[in-house]
Amino acid sequence: MSAANVELQKVERAATFLRDRLGPALATAKLGLVLGSGLKDFATNVQAATTIPFAEIPEWPVPHVEGHGGALVVGTVGGTGVACLTGRVHLYEGWEPADVVRAVRTLRRCGVPSFLLTNAAGGIADDMAPGDLMVLRDHLNLTGRSPLVGPHEAAFGPRFPDQTRVYSPRLLMLLQRTGTRVRPGVYAGLLGPSYETPAEIRMLHRLGADAVGMSTVHEAMALNAMGAEVAGLSLVTNLAAGISPVPLAHAEVVAAGNQAKPVLAALVTSFCRSLSA
Ligand code: HPA
Repeated sequence: MSAANVELQKVERAATFLRDRLGPALATAKLGLVLGSGLKDFATNVQAATTIPFAEIPEWPVPHVEGHGGALVVGTVGGTGVACLTGRVHLYEGWEPADVVRAVRTLRRCGVPSFLLTNAAGGIADDMAPGDLMVLRDHLNLTGRSPLVGPHEAAFGPRFPDQTRVYSPRLLMLLQRTGTRVRPGVYAGLLGPSYETPAEIRMLHRLGADAVGMSTVHEAMALNAMGAEVAGLSLVTNLAAGISPVPLAHAEVVAAGNQAKPVLAALVTSFCRSLSA
């Protein structure tokens, strides 16, 4: 059996388990929501929620970074069916790209049509301040890795997926119409786990990046290849290295996530409502 078949089997095992456990609640979910660093508490806004820890779902990797949860929460937000991941795994923990995207691929296989990928990010653009929200209009995948490498598996999309519009213009527009101020920008996804050097941030600025983080790009690539509608949202938790006058710390990222909770909850709830309108 090829590596591609093995990965599809893992995704199918997880999908079968979730279809059995969740039935119509998952089959009718309109949005897959991935909650990034410090943002997992949004899941408390999910109504009529069924919560399944990642550890109970076959083949799903379990995150272990501070500020990251580890459960699938399925229910409704603003009347829209959602399947919410209260955390994710990262390459910098030693996981492979296929592990990083397995949960979102599973939800996509279960029929979830649209996704909102959230993350905490460092602000690079000149007008960016901590607390700002950025909707992704594009990304730079600077991890040197891709979830699409390996023997081709048609169930995961074409061999050479188009990436002209990884982030859906329709979803971007809906995010801009929620009443919460968001600015469109380009997200640079890096491997981590170290934060960047000031020279790297100057380079990213010249390359057209508005914010920088260590997640999201592989999930977006895998979902785009599978024909999903993808949106991305960055919470700027800090100014990037060298722009910030002080050294960066993960505690700062988590604290900024906590502070932004009400704004984020209002934005995502309004976005969910607009999806069923
Ligand atoms: N760099 C990379 N990842 C991040 C940052 C940053 O400054 N802030 C939050 N995640």
